[in-house]
Amino acid sequence: MVRPVTPTVRVADGTDVRTVAWLRRQWAEEQAGGTVADAGFDAAMASWWEREHDQRVTWLAEVDGRAAGMLNMLVFTRMPKPRTASSDWPPQWGYVANVYVERPLRDAGIGRALLEAVTAYADEQGFARLVLAPSERSVPFYTRAGFGPATGLLVREGR
Ligand SMILES: CC(C)(COP(=O)(O)OP(=O)(O)OC[C@H]1O[C@@H](n2cnc3c(N)ncnc32)[C@H](O)[C@@H]1OP(=O)(O)O)[C@@H](O)C(=O)NCCC(=O)NCCS
Repeated sequence: MVRPVTPTVRVADGTDVRTVAWLRRQWAEEQAGGTVADAGFDAAMASWWEREHDQRVTWLAEVDGRAAGMLNMLVFTRMPKPRTASSDWPPQWGYVANVYVERPLRDAGIGRALLEAVTAYADEQGFARLVLAPSERSVPFYTRAGFGPATGLLVREGR
């Protein structure tokens, strides 16, 4: 690990869309190995946010007042079912995605701070579970935060 930093982690709101878009672009350009000239991207991000924000929570990690990373969670609200007063049936679970820390700031605990924010939120809200699809490299990162292999899910890949 490089020198640990203590980021500020906060929930993003509508005024942060450009910052979230900027981080998303950094990530895409890192993957592409250079500039990605997508003139419609910022508008696509703005309309995606408008459409999606009611059912998502996005966290931003900031270091010295500047965005350093993000995490996004889709809140899945289960279909209600009739139940007795005593039955324990958490009505929500979360799908964690878009976990990203700027490359020069990695391995300093910023990602861990983002995961602490989402797991604390899920626990406070009584979520049934959090689910995610890790890259191979990030498996230890998620395992340290309490995630384990999913044994009860099936997946059908797109054709
Ligand atoms: C995954 C990621 C958010 C972790 O952020 P971070 O601030 O470096 O996290 P921390 O400092 O708390 O933890 C470091 C751990 O992250 C993981 N990690 C480091 N570099 C990584 C990379 N390029 N890709 C995926 N995971 C990585 C490792 O598990 C590392 O610990 P380890 O070397 O002991 O195994 C960050 O590496 C990243 O943005 N990677 C690129 C995007 C990505 O892969 N996102 C996750 C997709 S499921």
